[in-house]
Amino acid sequence: MTKTVVITGANRGIGFELVKCYLANGDWHIIAACRSPESAKALNSLADATDGDIEIVQLDVANADSVAAFASAIGDRKIDVLINNAGVIGGDHQSLGDIDYDEWMETLAINTLGPVRVTEALISNIRKSDNGKIVAISSQLGAMQYQTQGRFAYNSSKAALNRAMTLLASQLRSESIIVAMYHPGWVQTDMGGQQADITPPESANSLFQCFEKLVLADTGKFFKWNGEPHAW
Ligand SMILES: NC(=O)c1ccc[n+]([C@@H]2O[C@H](COP(=O)([O-])OP(=O)(O)OC[C@H]3O[C@@H](n4cnc5c(N)ncnc54)[C@H](OP(=O)(O)O)[C@@H]3O)[C@@H](O)[C@H]2O)c1
Repeated sequence: MTKTVVITGANRGIGFELVKCYLANGDWHIIAACRSPESAKALNSLADATDGDIEIVQLDVANADSVAAFASAIGDRKIDVLINNAGVIGGDHQSLGDIDYDEWMETLAINTLGPVRVTEALISNIRKSDNGKIVAISSQLGAMQYQTQGRFAYNSSKAALNRAMTLLASQLRSESIIVAMYHPGWVQTDMGGQQADITPPESANSLFQCFEKLVLADTGKFFKWNGEPHAW
């Protein structure tokens, strides 16, 4: 039977590669969420080449009206997997002595509140699945044990994302809905840069396999892109 996956930030980077993975691996209806569907050229071309497997829907995860419109476009359909992938690195002013607090708020709105907002809007759809899964693409930079300097906005947004997702995991465990967080690796995307360790297909293919293997015992946990546990 066809399963449905929602992927946010599906027009480029890791999100776009995840769309390709779901397309290539089994019977999936892919709801590809992106901020500007009209300018998502590669995603539109891919969707046009399929037989309705990819449905492109507008979604700005930081905008309440956009999230509400997205939920209403989905209606009462079942969602089996929600991938909260959309994210930003934040602005250029994230170092001590040069912190732009408005930029920081914007980063939190996208990276932290966005995944919770989208999950909350779609929770009744996820509850319809027998094996509902919610994943968040987090970052090693959100881990307390990761030694790094600067990037106040980005790093704190991912740390807070992890905490919010563990709360969701606690609340949804009794309903057998799995919530898991992933560091996708350092990936060659617009965000990661070309000097990064791995390609988007390497990251996305491995993440896809990990998501498929998730069981309830994994809920509330933080993993690396290769499925190994990630330290907090
Ligand atoms: N690349 C890495 O090395 C790396 C490492 C650790 C974690 N991550 C995480 O992995 C995820 C994907 O990153 P990426 O490397 O693929 O980045 P990317 O190439 O910069 O793509 C980011 C995606 O997020 C979307 N997005 C940004 N703000 C949005 C909003 N308000 N509403 C909806 N969509 C929004 C972008 O849409 P637009 O095209 O409209 O801007 C784009 O589709 C992010 O959460 C990132 O923090 C990446």
